[in-house]
Amino acid sequence: MVSVVVGGHFGDEGKGKIISYLALHDNPEVIARAGVGPNAGHTVYKNGKKYGLRMVPCGFVNDNARLLIGAGVLVDVQTLLKEIGETNTGNRIGLDKRCAIIEERHKEQDVGDKHLKSTVGSTGTGCGPANAERAHRTIKLAQDIPSLKGFLADVPEELNRAFLEGKKILVEGTQGFCLSLFYGTYPYVTSKDTTASMVAADVGIGPTKIKKVYVVFKAYMSRVGQGPFETELDDKRVKASMWKKILEAANAKGIKGRNPNETIAEYFGEKGTVTGRMRRIGDFDFKLARYSAMVNSATDLAVTCIDKLFPECGKVKKYDDLSQQARDYLKKIEDEVGVKITLISTGPDAEDIIDLRQQDSTI
Ligand code: GTP
Ligand code: IMP
Ligand code: MG
Repeated sequence: MVSVVVGGHFGDEGKGKIISYLALHDNPEVIARAGVGPNAGHTVYKNGKKYGLRMVPCGFVNDNARLLIGAGVLVDVQTLLKEIGETNTGNRIGLDKRCAIIEERHKEQDVGDKHLKSTVGSTGTGCGPANAERAHRTIKLAQDIPSLKGFLADVPEELNRAFLEGKKILVEGTQGFCLSLFYGTYPYVTSKDTTASMVAADVGIGPTKIKKVYVVFKAYMSRVGQGPFETELDDKRVKASMWKKILEAANAKGIKGRNPNETIAEYFGEKGTVTGRMRRIGDFDFKLARYSAMVNSATDLAVTCIDKLFPECGKVKKYDDLSQQARDYLKKIEDEVGVKITLISTGPDAEDIIDLRQQDSTI
């Protein structure tokens, strides 16, 4: 059985956290990373240590799982080897021999190109130029790199075999729906589609094999980089809503940005995992979320960071222990998006979660 996890908004929804919970709780035998490449940074904790993973699957927190990186993913060789060392996963990780390789010149082009760096606000990790070169069909593949020899795999072969053997497979997406090259806020998007179908194609699994699609949303929204953000916080939005209390709490701690948005981003610790840039914050956009769930064919919604909006819900593990306000808020998301919320994250640790799935419908 195959389950896929994707981002529903602008990335950084906490996919890393949700994946680490699923990896530990549902115990999949195989975990494959899909998505664009090292422009993503998933935050996960293992034994109290924090990891900002850009290449290795977040599912590494499960010591028994086979870890794979699909052919659709761009590989930064240095970053990959460094992370394999840090996570001590060299004996169980494989990357598809057809993964395309990011070279130094792609990174130079990404930071040196005015359009990419200033207009699009890219992460500077070389992904855009590498995907452009991949489409131009002159890029190097993993099979051309001697230091990757020991890790090469045929990911579709392994995954489809595991599927036929009845094993559980978890596939990790990166970024989010609104950063999709096809469906996002073009041109302020990443260099590939980011929806569940692309994620499946990235690892070589066909659509008829996907059982579950978890779309992850933050309880509010954040965006790092340029581009439209309809519900971004301004003075008016803050004054008229629950943000007022949050702003006051930030000010009471002596946190004062140049505007409410910056103050709240700092109070929430909303800094880009890869770039360190401050994230822009906004209200949950219900209409956008509904559209995102539709294109992704969501079967389940996961909502993270509910504790940031409702601090009394921090680390809560039972739905009935959530405050009434938090429950009303979640109900509104569920009603407006039209898909069941089955995972509610109440803190950054894997076990800070309310799992509303039925026993027979885990991954
Ligand atoms: P991308 O693939 O880059 O889009 O990343 P991501 O979706 O994995 O998210 P990322 O790790 O970049 O950012 C999410 C941040 O929120 C991290 O710092 C997480 O530790 C944190 N986080 C996730 N879930 C929760 C939660 O429920 N509560 C709190 N307080 N923090 C959370
Ligand atoms: P690129 O993917 O580096 O070309 O960046 C294009 C746009 O996508 C920029 O606005 C980035 O900030 C954004 N972006 C890319 N990857 C991520 C991510 O993992 N989280 C959040 N934003 C991202
Ligand atoms: Mg991130």
